[in-house]
Amino acid sequence: MESGRAPNVSAHGATIPVVGYGTMLYPEPERAVGLIAHAIEYGYRHIDTARKYGSEQWVGEAIRGSGVPRDELWVTTKVTEENAKADDFARSVDTSLQTLGLDYVDLLLIHWPQPSVPLEETLEALAKAKRDGLTRHIGVSNFTVALLDEAVAKCSEQIVTNQVEYHAYLRQDKLLTACARHGLFVTCYAPVARTRLLDDPVITEIGTAHGKTAAQVALRWLVQQPQLVVVPRAVEFSEIEEDIDLFDFELSDDEMSRIGALRDKNIRIVDPEARRPVWDEG
Ligand SMILES: NC(=O)c1ccc[n+]([C@@H]2O[C@H](COP(=O)([O-])OP(=O)(O)OC[C@H]3O[C@@H](n4cnc5c(N)ncnc54)[C@H](OP(=O)(O)O)[C@@H]3O)[C@@H](O)[C@H]2O)c1
Repeated sequence: MESGRAPNVSAHGATIPVVGYGTMLYPEPERAVGLIAHAIEYGYRHIDTARKYGSEQWVGEAIRGSGVPRDELWVTTKVTEENAKADDFARSVDTSLQTLGLDYVDLLLIHWPQPSVPLEETLEALAKAKRDGLTRHIGVSNFTVALLDEAVAKCSEQIVTNQVEYHAYLRQDKLLTACARHGLFVTCYAPVARTRLLDDPVITEIGTAHGKTAAQVALRWLVQQPQLVVVPRAVEFSEIEEDIDLFDFELSDDEMSRIGALRDKNIRIVDPEARRPVWDEG
């Protein structure tokens, strides 16, 4: 089997593979461990999970079965907004580690902002998890520019990423600029826009020109930009392989611009009414 491998990006001492395997939503849960195991066997060294996904146990099983040394793998997990208070946060981290069967994760994220709990309290719980050695690095997810600025200013430990929806159909200029200003890498979720990008004529035409699939073009467009990390989720072995085989071709400046122009569609897919902050437009 040919092994896919992704290069790394670094921010504030964190060095992360730019392609991670997303583990949200397995339509057939009984296949989950096999799929995660396949990703690791194929060469993925970065797995994205969360308490909310219910996939931590499967991630732990796949890691234990892989034979890959722990320090060669990057594992991210997240604490949900229901656990934003300090005690709940600490309990959630303990449960995550127990469920994963790991002593530490590489990255711990606040999954969504929680307006009913002071941000300082959640940030301090996040920073404490790092100081206690439960995570090597910390970050946030679904934070707007204003929330990110506040988090960076108030957190006693360095934030390394904001994990947000980003793909060629969504304008995220303001957020990307803010992340760059803080020296973060951006983790892009829903990177193929949950398949919406896969029928786009611009993407498919460029794919044909390079002998690559639409998913590979959509992902390559992201990882060819500075400091971007992608966490696609696929439940077919062949798609898992495709999603990391992105480093044997390059998009031209013209192709990058043509794909970049698709952002005028401005489609946001993950927008849960109960959790969403007031998103930055543009
Ligand atoms: N922080 C957050 O709030 C947040 C929110 C959402 C997601 N995430 C993370 O981001 C990950 C990915 O996001 P997502 O699942 O929402 O969106 P996504 O990766 O853009 O889309 C997943 C869909 O794309 C398809 N796909 C992937 N690779 C493909 C390929 N090579 N060829 C054809 N189809 C392909 C999958 O098809 P199949 O099902 O057929 O494999 C699946 O239906 C999640 O697993 C999670 O780890 C984080």
